[in-house]
Amino acid sequence: MSDNFILETSDLGMAYGRFVALFGVDLKVQEGTIHAVIGPNGAGKTTLFHCLTGNRLPTSGRVMFRDADITRMPSHRRIGIGMSRSFQITSLFQNLSVRENLRLAAQGRHMVKAMNFWGSVEGYPEPLEISEELLDRLGLMDRADVIAGELSHGQQRILEVGMAMAAKPKMLLLDEPTSGMGIDDIPAMTRLIKELGHDHTVLLIEHNMDIVMSISSIISVMHQGRILVEGAPEMVQKDERVRTAYLGEAI
Ligand SMILES: Nc1ncnc2c1ncn2[C@@H]1O[C@H](COP(=O)(O)OP(=O)(O)O)[C@@H](O)[C@H]1O
Ligand SMILES: [Mg+2]
Repeated sequence: MSDNFILETSDLGMAYGRFVALFGVDLKVQEGTIHAVIGPNGAGKTTLFHCLTGNRLPTSGRVMFRDADITRMPSHRRIGIGMSRSFQITSLFQNLSVRENLRLAAQGRHMVKAMNFWGSVEGYPEPLEISEELLDRLGLMDRADVIAGELSHGQQRILEVGMAMAAKPKMLLLDEPTSGMGIDDIPAMTRLIKELGHDHTVLLIEHNMDIVMSISSIISVMHQGRILVEGAPEMVQKDERVRTAYLGEAI
């Protein structure tokens, strides 16, 4: 595997019973990029995400992360190697404050570090330090003491991303972070993801074309379980095959 690729799948296949949802997907994610996966509904984006995060076992092929074969690694162990996925709103502690949520997420990471005999907590920031830094990066400092359940939907989604960041991952995987968000909250999420790209590799599954086109360095377009087209935003935007794949869908 080339040093530049932090994540690489080869010939990745996945089926739900007899229904094949992914066919031989070769995805290469370059370190330090925002790599978007787009495609019409049902294309297989979430299925791919599940295979990358360990929520589903692929039926064929493999997943490499920083030179290690993680195809069969349980999802809870992936955080320890530097992969973090966005949490679901349902996993926020609705009755705790924003700050407490972030501190708990950071604490979880601290424990993983402390229990890893090859890892060291020395020099690793304290959970409180991490939560303060995150409040700032998320733009939620003025909401720090608000109960998570009282945030707007959009702010809850931003907090979810923050929970994933608390693990100090190398790579963040986000599946439709703007879904269900009101139009007013979208610019804040877009800014956050763009900013995340400065010091993380981001794999972003996203339906909102404006966001994808404005922040991604590379886009993989999926259609019917395969990668149809891959390239820079300007190239993907012009590609006739992409337009055809999206026919019948408003984008
Ligand atoms: N749990 C499941 N059982 C059976 N089929 C599924 C399941 N989840 C998704 N599918 C099917 O797999 C295909 C890909 O779905 P998905 O990965 O969710 O697509 P996307 O995220 O691109 O919209 C769709 O045809 C969908 O109906
Ligand atoms: Mg999906």
